[in-house]
Amino acid sequence: MNSGITISNRKVSFGGISLTEFIEKYETPLFLFSEQRLEDNYKALEESFRRYYPKTEVFFSVKTNFELSILKTLRRLGSKAEAASALEVIIAKKAGFEGSEMVLDGPAWTDNDIKFCIQKNISTFNVDSIDELRRVNRLAKAIGKKVKISFRIFPEIRMSILKSFIEGYISKFGIPLSQAVELYKEALTMDHVIPCAISTHIGSMITDPRYYEKTVQRLVKLAADLRDELGINIEAINIGGGFGVQSLNYYSIQNVILNKAGISQYSKAASIEEFGKRIGQKFAKELKENKLSEIKLIVEPGRFLVSDSGILITRVVAVKDKWIFIDGGINLIPESIFFIRRGFLIANKIGQEAKYEYNIAGPTLNTADVLAVNQKLPKMEVGDLVIVLDSGAYSLTRSNQFTILRPDALYITKDKKIKYLRKKEQPDDILNKLIP
Ligand SMILES: Cc1ncc(COP(=O)(O)O)c(C=O)c1O
Repeated sequence: MNSGITISNRKVSFGGISLTEFIEKYETPLFLFSEQRLEDNYKALEESFRRYYPKTEVFFSVKTNFELSILKTLRRLGSKAEAASALEVIIAKKAGFEGSEMVLDGPAWTDNDIKFCIQKNISTFNVDSIDELRRVNRLAKAIGKKVKISFRIFPEIRMSILKSFIEGYISKFGIPLSQAVELYKEALTMDHVIPCAISTHIGSMITDPRYYEKTVQRLVKLAADLRDELGINIEAINIGGGFGVQSLNYYSIQNVILNKAGISQYSKAASIEEFGKRIGQKFAKELKENKLSEIKLIVEPGRFLVSDSGILITRVVAVKDKWIFIDGGINLIPESIFFIRRGFLIANKIGQEAKYEYNIAGPTLNTADVLAVNQKLPKMEVGDLVIVLDSGAYSLTRSNQFTILRPDALYITKDKKIKYLRKKEQPDDILNKLIP
C-alpha cells in the first residue's frame, strides 16, 4: 500500500500528491484526506474479517469523522453507518445512508432523538440500559412501530493494568453481562421492541486481538443462553470498533514505567489481518460449539479506517528554546498525548538529521495544548512545515474554536483531484451566533 505517506528524493507525498508543491497554494493549518488511503483501509479491513467469517458487516462509526465525501466514499465501498445521535443520523442521511443502513448507539438519547430515529427506520437500537429500552418501547408504541433492539453488553473481561483503570470509566456504558438474561427477559414483555441482537464496544486503540476473542466467546455464549432460556433468536452480534492503528503508538502503563527509566517504548497494534483472522475464526468456532447457525458479525470501526487517511499540515509560528509552536493543536486534534503518540514529518527538512529535542505546542493558551514532548527533530525555524500524521480520526468531529477558527479540510480524490470537504470558519460564523 502506498496510498498514505511516502517519501522519495527527500519529498513527502500523500495520496499520490507532492506536499511541498501542493502547500504553496494553500494556507496552513489545513486538513488533507486521501480517498485512496481510505479505500485501501476499508478493503483491508473488510477482506480480513470476511476471509474468516463471510457474514461480517461493517458499520463505520460516524462520530470518528463525518465529512460528507468521506461518508460517501465509505458507502460506495459497502459500509453501513453507526450513529450516536439524531445529528449523526441527519449527517449520514445527507451522505446517502438510508435509515435501514444504520444502527444507533449511545447512553443518553433524548426522547426527540429516539422519536426521530424510529421515524427514520433505523435498523437496530443498541440500547444502553433498561430505562432507555422502556423509553424506546413507549415512543415506538406512540408512533405505532416495532423496532429491533440489542442491549450493549459490558463484557467484564480483564484488561491490562492501564486498561483496567480506564475500564472503571468504560463501565458506564452498557449493562454487565451478568444482568443480560434478566434484561432480555424483560424486553420480551414489551410489545414494541424486538430483542434480536447483542452489542458491545470494548474501547478504542485496542492493540491485542485477545480481548476480542474473549469478548466474542462471552457474547456467543450469551446468544446461546438467550436461545435456551428465553427462546430468543439472535440475528447479529455487534462487537463495536476499537481496532488499533499500527502507525500510532499506544502508551501503556508498562511503557510509562520504562519511560521513567529512560527507555522509550510504545506498544504497537496487531495488523488488521491479524484482528480479522483471530476474531473471525473465534466467532465461527464459538458459534459451531454452541450449535448456533450463522449469526451476522457486525464491526463498527472508526479510527482504523480514517486515522492515517488524514493529515494535518501546519507551520511553525514561534520557536522558544525547546518549544516550537505550530498553527494547529489540541483545538483540532483533541485526543490526549498521554495515550497516543503521533508521528511528525518536517516536510521541508526531509533528510536532515533529527538531533535536537523539542516540545511541540499548539497555538492556544490551553496548558494542555501540547502535541509531543521530547520529540527528536532537525533544527527548527519559523515557517517550517510540520505534518501531523494520523490526524483523520476524532479530529474534525471533536474540534473546537477555542480562541481560533477551524481550518479548511481538503480531499484528494482517487483520480488525484483536490476537492473541499469543509471551508475554513470565518469570524462571522461565530459572530452570527452571538446575540448582540
Ligand atoms: C459504540 C462504538 N462503536 C464504535 C466506535 C469506534 O471506535 P474506534 O474508532 O476505536 O474504532 C466507538 C468509539 O467510541 C463506539 O463508542
